[in-house]
Amino acid sequence: MTQLPKQTLRVGFVGSGFIAHFHLKSMIGVRNVEVTGVFSRKAENREKFANEVEALGLGSCRTHESLEALLTADDVDAVWILSPNYTRIDVMRSLHKAVKDGRSKVFAVACEKPLARTVAEAREMLSLAEDAGLNHGYLENQVFCTPVLRGKEIIWRRAATTTGRPYLARAAEEHSGPHEPWFWQGDKQGGGVLSDMMCHSVEVARYLLTAPGAPRNSLKIKAVNGTVANLKWTRPHYAEQLRNRFGNEVDYRNRPSEDFARATVTLEDQDGNELMIEATTSWAYVGAGLRIQLELLGPEYALEYNSLSTGLKIFMSREVKGSEGEDLVEKQNAEQGLMPVLEDEAGVYGYTDENRHMVECFRKGEKPLETFEDGLAVVEMLMGLYRSAEINATLNFPAPELEHYVPVVARRGA
Ligand SMILES: NC(=O)c1ccc[n+]([C@@H]2O[C@H](COP(=O)([O-])OP(=O)(O)OC[C@H]3O[C@@H](n4cnc5c(N)ncnc54)[C@H](OP(=O)(O)O)[C@@H]3O)[C@@H](O)[C@H]2O)c1
Repeated sequence: MTQLPKQTLRVGFVGSGFIAHFHLKSMIGVRNVEVTGVFSRKAENREKFANEVEALGLGSCRTHESLEALLTADDVDAVWILSPNYTRIDVMRSLHKAVKDGRSKVFAVACEKPLARTVAEAREMLSLAEDAGLNHGYLENQVFCTPVLRGKEIIWRRAATTTGRPYLARAAEEHSGPHEPWFWQGDKQGGGVLSDMMCHSVEVARYLLTAPGAPRNSLKIKAVNGTVANLKWTRPHYAEQLRNRFGNEVDYRNRPSEDFARATVTLEDQDGNELMIEATTSWAYVGAGLRIQLELLGPEYALEYNSLSTGLKIFMSREVKGSEGEDLVEKQNAEQGLMPVLEDEAGVYGYTDENRHMVECFRKGEKPLETFEDGLAVVEMLMGLYRSAEINATLNFPAPELEHYVPVVARRGA
């Protein structure tokens, strides 16, 4: 049994792709942590990741050729699951078995969004973590976005205490489409943009509406209403573009996932007040880059945030030539004109505070703000929204039919 608190948490990463590198960048703003191991299937990816750990001064990172080797390493206390959605459950089953068999010393696990592709999978993720006695954290970075933390604190301290609680949260996350083929494949990812990005919006909106320190169940979900649509990527020109970029496995002529979704979630607080979440999300937004928009409205106040309304902007004339990149903002679409720049993406998007929080909770043995229970509750909302869109009707909660529900676009052969 590991004695807590531990002075330094030694973290092993499962996955070495886009988000793993984002997390790594943020870790330089986190104390009491070392990144000591990584597993992903390709040696070159593992090496690149380990070299970056070294360059950032985040510890000595060993590359592992198998998941088992990472999980049973004697220098790994906690695992961050950052591999694709369709690999989650197998990673978690392996971790559970290795811990139960006494082969692994891992005592905590954090998992990227969404926790799983279905309610059944999410429930299994939670019960595996609990059965193995692992502390668990759900990596929903938007809850830790610096404008969310600061905005929520001010609204609830100054405005809500004097004029009443907020009643409406609006959240949107949009960009021009994901970077790897598996995101576009309904069965692998779990759905389309609704599952990929609305997981952020419903959770950050719920968090903004929840009184500081109050438990998740202080707000009850009463009903959800969702719409999904294919606005851009099923058009022949764009379906062809996807096929050229990702190969025949991404076939948006015949097997598209939705590229637009909207949701309303009706909630009730402990005093019987009706509250509302309005969320919208798309892979069909071509602006400067990824855009997060948030609002929190109450009887005498309003909060608003737009991640592309940055303080820092850079103008580049048509004479400035260079290669395409994502060096100004995530999912960047241009390199000329007036461009917004997020000078600390890892901080503003919440990764730094998220990782600081998870590391401190894990090393001290405390329950994180976001756990697998929250991840499960998010998946329940998402599945409710898919079901609502499928039947073209509002779905009242609790909805036991969601236990084994699979979104239409995620059904094999869909
Ligand atoms: N919070 C956010 O805003 C945010 C943003 C992006 C992604 N995410 C989430 O992060 C997760 C990963 O997304 P990503 O964008 O990083 O995807 P990605 O760029 O495709 O990277 C996936 C990584 O997982 C590795 N991998 C694939 N299969 C594996 C397996 N069976 N076991 C271990 N590693 C495996 C891949 O490397 P090898 O090929 O070497 O195996 C790769 O390093 C997803 O769940 C996604 O939803 C969250």
